[in-house]
Amino acid sequence: MFFKIAVICAASCLFSVQAIAMTNDYGRKLFTSTTLGGGTTGKTCLTCHEKGRDFSKETLTKQHFTVMGNEIAGLPAVINFCIEVALRGQELAPDGEQMRNLIAYLKIFIEQNNKEENP
Ligand code: HEC
Repeated sequence: MFFKIAVICAASCLFSVQAIAMTNDYGRKLFTSTTLGGGTTGKTCLTCHEKGRDFSKETLTKQHFTVMGNEIAGLPAVINFCIEVALRGQELAPDGEQMRNLIAYLKIFIEQNNKEENP
């Protein structure tokens, strides 16, 4: 019985690790793309947010953001704000595949940078 549970656990853990790794790759590609949303500035998300600058753990959970003096509600809206204003691109669908992957990668990115700062 215990063995059976362990096998099921191991299989599903492997699966979820793989899923995260895939999200990570695609999300990172978007995060470091100069053409995200058709952007025209030659910048990427990483250009400004290198080493997690401006991000904190609260970035993933807070509902209200103040970005460059603008009040913005919700993470997808903030990301779209940065795409439109900072990358001069077109906003992404708030629940679309690219947005979901960017947010998934943002989680990984923020965790990695927090670890480096506070080992
Ligand atoms: C030209 C520089 C620049 C680029 C490029 C840029 N950002 Fe930003 N971003 C900022 C600045 C500046 C802030 C807000 C700093 C402040 O006012 O506190 C910010 C804020 C944010 C926040 C809110 C963080 C918080 O906790 O308040 C998120 C999330 C974010 N950016 C994501 C992105 C993503 C994703 C991209 C790529 C699509 C991106 N940014 C591209 C400059 C940029």
